[in-house]
Amino acid sequence: MKAVVFRSFGDADVLEITDIDPPTPMEDEVLIKVKAAAINPKDIFIRKGYFKERTGNDFPMRTGFDFAGEIVGKGSQVQGFETGLPVYGMLDGWGGGTCAQFITVKVHQFSQKPDNLSFEEAAALPLVSLTAMQALRDEGGIRAESQVCINGASGGVGSMAVQIAKRFGATVTAMGSTVNHTLLKTLGADICYDYHQTDITNSRRTFDIFFDVFGNRLFETVEPVLSENGVWVSTVLRPEVIAAVDRTKDTPGKRARLVIVRPDIRDLATLRQWVETAVVKPVIHDVLPMEKIADAHRQQATKHTRGKLVVTIP
Ligand SMILES: NC(=O)c1ccc[n+]([C@@H]2O[C@H](COP(=O)([O-])OP(=O)(O)OC[C@H]3O[C@@H](n4cnc5c(N)ncnc54)[C@H](OP(=O)(O)O)[C@@H]3O)[C@@H](O)[C@H]2O)c1
Repeated sequence: MKAVVFRSFGDADVLEITDIDPPTPMEDEVLIKVKAAAINPKDIFIRKGYFKERTGNDFPMRTGFDFAGEIVGKGSQVQGFETGLPVYGMLDGWGGGTCAQFITVKVHQFSQKPDNLSFEEAAALPLVSLTAMQALRDEGGIRAESQVCINGASGGVGSMAVQIAKRFGATVTAMGSTVNHTLLKTLGADICYDYHQTDITNSRRTFDIFFDVFGNRLFETVEPVLSENGVWVSTVLRPEVIAAVDRTKDTPGKRARLVIVRPDIRDLATLRQWVETAVVKPVIHDVLPMEKIADAHRQQATKHTRGKLVVTIP
């Protein structure tokens, strides 16, 4: 089968399409013919070698964590998922590999694809939507009365976080470049600020949840604009974040949290329902064929992608 691999860490030029053996599903896995995959910043960081201690140096390595496709085989222990079922989902761990014609996945990593979406649209959803859902709901404890600020609102995670926060009835302040404010309003943002012009941490407003999607605001800087029991949720696993989470975990009042997305079959089913009832929709910057994988990685690395980059798999 055709798969995107890289044989050394480096810039996007290290990516190549090659022929490798298709995988065989284990007893608890299904085999999926991938129709579309999506790119995430994680793919860029892994390719550059930033997560060497987690990925190891076992080349060739693979890219892609989001997928949409059809079940074409399954292990003996898998029940309830029939061949031909259209599915979407995400890989956990550090291996990746959805930019390939076939993948094997475990049953917690996928769910049935929303009926009203193409495979390209469905591939744009899982990792970013589950991140936003798990950050706002599980870490932030979002409620209808919540005042929510989303920093990095027009990107992959942010564009879903705006819509999901509105689904819960919250009031959403979205931080993004002015050029993206029309998009953010369309997604439901109540107030938009351009982070180039406005430092929200100097605002007189307070937030029950400050979702630092972009990951450049420290808890200490955001604390003044958190409400009495406000929560700052970061996406970035780094020492200052861990320290703030540890420091506030057993104390009442303002607190710091870190979201680490996990594939969850129930969350994917909830997302499917939201999509099919037009509560949320994918936001897609571009759809590129697999041969253009390096261009997709280059665009993702700009940190100014509007929503998602999707790769079609032949
Ligand atoms: N912990 C986890 O489980 C987890 C899961 C998913 C993602 N993440 C991490 O979350 C981060 C965001 O992921 P993503 O997929 O949303 O990335 P993305 O799509 O590349 O995010 C791009 C967005 O970042 C905004 N941005 C750029 N510079 C900014 C700045 N100085 N201040 C505020 N916003 C800025 C851009 O806004 P404008 O273009 O409007 O300027 C753009 O909309 C990444 O670091 C990713 O690794 C972590």
